Amino acid sequence: MKQKLILAGLLAGSAALTSMAQTDALRFNPDNYIRQSLTMPDGREVSYKAYEGIYYVTNIEDSVYQTLNIYVPDRLANIPRVPVLLRTYVGGYAASTAKSPSASDATGRALSEGYVVCIPGSRGSNSTVERDGSVIYTGIAPNGLLDLKAAVRYLRYNDDAIPGSSELIFTDGTSAGGAMSSLLGATGNSKDYAESLRKMGAADVRDDVFAAICYCPITDLNHADMEYEWLYGCTNTGVRHLSEDQIVISDELAAECPAYINSLGLTKPDGTLLTADNYKEYLKGFLIESAHRALQEGCEIPDSIGFKFYQDKMEPMGAGPGGPIPAGEQRPPFGDGRQAPSFGPGNAPRFNKTSDFVTGLDLDKYLAYVASVTPLKTPPAFDQMGVLIETPSPENKVFGNKNGDAANFTDFSLRHRLHDSKAKLSADMTRRVALMNPMNYIGNGSAKVAPNWYIRHGAKDRDTSFLVPVNLATKLMNAGKNVDFALPWNRPHSGDYNLDDLFRWIASTIQ
Ligand code: DHB
Repeated sequence: MKQKLILAGLLAGSAALTSMAQTDALRFNPDNYIRQSLTMPDGREVSYKAYEGIYYVTNIEDSVYQTLNIYVPDRLANIPRVPVLLRTYVGGYAASTAKSPSASDATGRALSEGYVVCIPGSRGSNSTVERDGSVIYTGIAPNGLLDLKAAVRYLRYNDDAIPGSSELIFTDGTSAGGAMSSLLGATGNSKDYAESLRKMGAADVRDDVFAAICYCPITDLNHADMEYEWLYGCTNTGVRHLSEDQIVISDELAAECPAYINSLGLTKPDGTLLTADNYKEYLKGFLIESAHRALQEGCEIPDSIGFKFYQDKMEPMGAGPGGPIPAGEQRPPFGDGRQAPSFGPGNAPRFNKTSDFVTGLDLDKYLAYVASVTPLKTPPAFDQMGVLIETPSPENKVFGNKNGDAANFTDFSLRHRLHDSKAKLSADMTRRVALMNPMNYIGNGSAKVAPNWYIRHGAKDRDTSFLVPVNLATKLMNAGKNVDFALPWNRPHSGDYNLDDLFRWIASTIQ
């Protein structure tokens, strides 16, 4: 090893020396594993080789978190290129250790499908090390993302030695982890992260991925507050019970949202511009599609939460498929060949069943229902520190500094905290915030964006505005990506559900 380094240094100078040293330290050892197994919910036993505690950078700052685990099933899928599921367990923008697979989530399922699984740890808002007697916060943004990108690079760097194909990496995460997954999908090979990754000693290879699976991504953080208030403002004096001060903040934030929506320049599937004026109709399409699917699957949807059903429309008009209903007769049966209109983009299911179907939605009523199930966040929902309360949110913490001081990440909240209407984020904070927003990298050629996306946000998930996943999915569709997007019925803030659907989708992308 030493001789090799000297030789390399003599031959090609110090750059080559660094990369040779790094090269060896990042080499995967195929013999260094233990055997493990999982019992799946159906009783099947899945056995695999477990390669655990692998450092994915050479300049390790935080040895607790900067490691990854790789799991290789004994029965690898019998296909030419085997996918690798890279599952992050980041939650709340906190640090996450490299975990073991679980029979109840996508990791166990992936192993049972014969896919390789990688579970990286990553630094986050609460990870610290002690240096020269001081506590250093190691995981301030964008360090957690850099760690995950380094993990992707490790897989690609060792593609020849690790079973599975690094050209078929599927990232998967929920909530802040969903945000990380969306960032991994959106920022492939972007030069914005290159220098930091080099300093960390990440492998010097590409970090784009094949697919991103994002459950309820808590992202677009610098617009999430206005998106929340613009959507949920209708509940302020009702179910949300805001104080007068809170209503002032809510209204100020909501007022900023239309300009943001219009600035995105997004288009609907029919090619027309998506604007603040038609946005709510567009959003309703996704919720109505969700309700359609739920009805098809046999769910009952109460009459009281805003959806309008076929009968509602028929009865007052007195007109059914066969024309007006004669007095005293029953209304005609459904399932008579008429189909519900197709709502939402993509392939909304065509409804042709003997049951009701949804014809409309009172959005304000539905939003009040969502707010009644789980109390809404108070404004500002994300950059909250110093506006009406002092408590930092998870996002204030992750945008904090190395000493552990939380920080604002929007001009809006900074101005309120400092009582200075001209205050502005520092250039460094603006840069960090931009690095954490996948919307900045889609559709402008600045990164290699994953070609495949699976995005889910529960239809009763209030942790962020529906606008966040809807804008992300729409921007990706506009950029020509293969996007499977839905707001699944009755789902709260959660992830890795409906694994049959997810793994059908995964299979469809690798055909
Ligand atoms: C998570 C949830 C939130 O509501 C939030 O603001 C940030 C992170 C999470 O569950 O990861």
